[in-house]
Amino acid sequence: ASILVIQGPNLNLLGTREPDVYGKTTLEDIHQKLGELAKAQSVDLNTFQSNHEGELIDRIQKAKQDGVDFIIINPGAFTHTSVALRDVLAGVAIPFTEVHLSNIHQREEFRKHSYLSDIATGVICGLGAIGYELALQAAITRLKK
Ligand code: DQA
Repeated sequence: ASILVIQGPNLNLLGTREPDVYGKTTLEDIHQKLGELAKAQSVDLNTFQSNHEGELIDRIQKAKQDGVDFIIINPGAFTHTSVALRDVLAGVAIPFTEVHLSNIHQREEFRKHSYLSDIATGVICGLGAIGYELALQAAITRLKK
């Protein structure tokens, strides 16, 4: 099985970016941990971060060609703005889980709406970096069914 983790804008700054909101764990730490968990369960895991909407879309289109089975995505601020990201996820029809480090429902009004949530298999938010690990475990369980 093959799982792709997609990280949207500004997530490359994790660790130093508003640590009270997003925690002190870096993106590299998160990806390393996910890689270990996937390896232990014989799952192929790739990660990708971009600050650019079009690059995220291109990567998701490529995932279809590559035969990726599942996507875990933190779309960052594009969660609240991007019809194009919704369209590509719907278009490739690869099941995906949406992850947010922070509790987007506890913050500004504009963060409460997601263009992706209603077409996601599930949404995890507010649990910090461990949210990705939970999403990965759920994805692996689903793929092994
Ligand atoms: C985020 C929440 C978004 O509202 C914000 O724009 C981010 C990160 C999170 O992980 O909590 O960049 O997706």
